[in-house]
Amino acid sequence: MNFCVLMASPRLKGNTVELLKPFISELEDNKANVTYIPLSEKMILPCKGCYACQNVSDKYGCIQQDDVLDIMDSIIACDCIVLATPIYSWYCTAPMKALLDRHYGLNKFYGSAKGSLWAGKKVAIIATHGYDAEYGAGPFENGIKRLCVHSKLNYIGMFSVRDEDNLASFQTETAINGARIFARRLLSCEF
Ligand SMILES: Cc1cc2nc3c(=O)[nH]c(=O)nc-3n(C[C@H](O)[C@H](O)[C@H](O)COP(=O)(O)O)c2cc1C
Repeated sequence: MNFCVLMASPRLKGNTVELLKPFISELEDNKANVTYIPLSEKMILPCKGCYACQNVSDKYGCIQQDDVLDIMDSIIACDCIVLATPIYSWYCTAPMKALLDRHYGLNKFYGSAKGSLWAGKKVAIIATHGYDAEYGAGPFENGIKRLCVHSKLNYIGMFSVRDEDNLASFQTETAINGARIFARRLLSCEF
């Protein structure tokens, strides 16, 4: 089983990474393959809205030459995409939002090319946030649910923990066990 973990915090040793530690360790203990991509280290240009990708069949087809091409290869190769992000202004951080906008080349809906390069994949969210889960992470989860319906992806669910005391909030037994249980839930979904 192949997981692609897209990590969107600019803090490479921050809360989101802390929460990912038990999650990824549980996946790897169960022999899953995990590709971990820290998005803030990558060059992710904004979508130009040119629709060129919509006339390219069987491959991503974006005209922009940046790190998104390799990231899309990892997404296409995986069974489950994990969107791991702190909530910034009620959504994911900017690099993940830029990457999500660049999904167009995976959905050939609007030009001469047809089909999808990612339909049927599983999608899960791991989020950290200052407000309570529903108020803080609800808008992002709703957006991703809609993207999944639109793109025929299989949304599995979200595990999130509130930042009440910086790193310590993500080192509690509840946070660690919750992350491990969520990993096992993803592993138990049939691929
Ligand atoms: C610029 C900025 C914007 C934020 N916006 C929100 C927000 O809209 N809602 C929320 O619940 N928390 C918000 N937070 C709190 C972060 O989501 C929270 O501290 C998170 O755990 C940080 O994770 P990190 O250490 O992995 O970057 C914000 C924090 C920052 C720095």
